[in-house]
Amino acid sequence: MTALLDLLDLSPDAIRQLVSLARELEGRKDLTHLKDQVVGLLFMNPSLRTLVSMQTAVAHLGGTSVVIQPGQGSWKLELRDGVVMDGDAVEHIREAMPVLAQYVDLLGVRCFAEGKNLADDLADQPIRAMAEHFGGPFVNLESAASHPCQALADWKTLDDLGIPAIGKFVLSWAYHPKPLPFAVPQSALTMALLRGMEVTVLRPPGFDLPGGVISQAVAAAAKGGGTFHETADRSDALEGAHVLYAKSWAKPDVYGDPEADRIAREPYRDWTVDESWFAPARPEAKFMHCLPVRRNIKVTDAVLDGPRSIVVPQAGNRLHAQKAILAALSEGGLR
Ligand code: CP
Repeated sequence: MTALLDLLDLSPDAIRQLVSLARELEGRKDLTHLKDQVVGLLFMNPSLRTLVSMQTAVAHLGGTSVVIQPGQGSWKLELRDGVVMDGDAVEHIREAMPVLAQYVDLLGVRCFAEGKNLADDLADQPIRAMAEHFGGPFVNLESAASHPCQALADWKTLDDLGIPAIGKFVLSWAYHPKPLPFAVPQSALTMALLRGMEVTVLRPPGFDLPGGVISQAVAAAAKGGGTFHETADRSDALEGAHVLYAKSWAKPDVYGDPEADRIAREPYRDWTVDESWFAPARPEAKFMHCLPVRRNIKVTDAVLDGPRSIVVPQAGNRLHAQKAILAALSEGGLR
């Protein structure tokens, strides 16, 4: 496989091998996997962790990176097929991707959800089209429906802490002032199920995961041996939990209507993770979040600054995980 678009495309054994490779390469800055290679990093949306950890990973592997930010120094890109391009976008991915393929040896792309049509966003067509038009080694740096680099780093973080493969993983909705896409919640759920974990999805009534995310979860559970169920009961969800992973997501039945989502979200403003959430959990239970996180909106200062929070080493693992992905791609692909 020369393109990493979603963690579900890999077998649990292949993921374990990548995590092992990440551990082997961790701390090494003298590697040569990408010697004489140029990696393009195309960001249609902002980033701190992904941008800097990818550039650092490329440098540690002996390569060079080029950052492309459409609309901020390079042409704004059109993603849709068959449209009359009379808007802001002046270049189509059908030309831009094969052009880039002549310059760079590997391409990473960030392209978030449009946030208008749920089925379209979950189908993740733009990132798939870009990978196809590029035609060479390709890494998804967060698309509408998937964030595989984050998911691989999260898996390594759980391993680093000795969290059992069959441990209890709670993916919880938390309040956020805007409706957010499904890329991170879907990837965290996929990762935990592929790892074989007992997963509980905690969310307010009405914020049930949509059918497309459930289908992917069923496939991940079948592949990895994990189990999952959804609940709005916080005590039941956290009972005996090893990990609480917080994330917000849009209300599926009003997706694309921010005002309707805001009204539906309003009664759940108190879904801010604080220490009381952990009362039924294991005493050593950890708090995870992909970052960036809004303090005292999604999670309190006390939890983020306390011993439960592993968000900083979790972000550190982005670098190690991506070094493994890039090294594997440079050696002929992912299996
Ligand atoms: N978690 C994550 O992808 O962070 P950035 O948006 O800063 O890259």
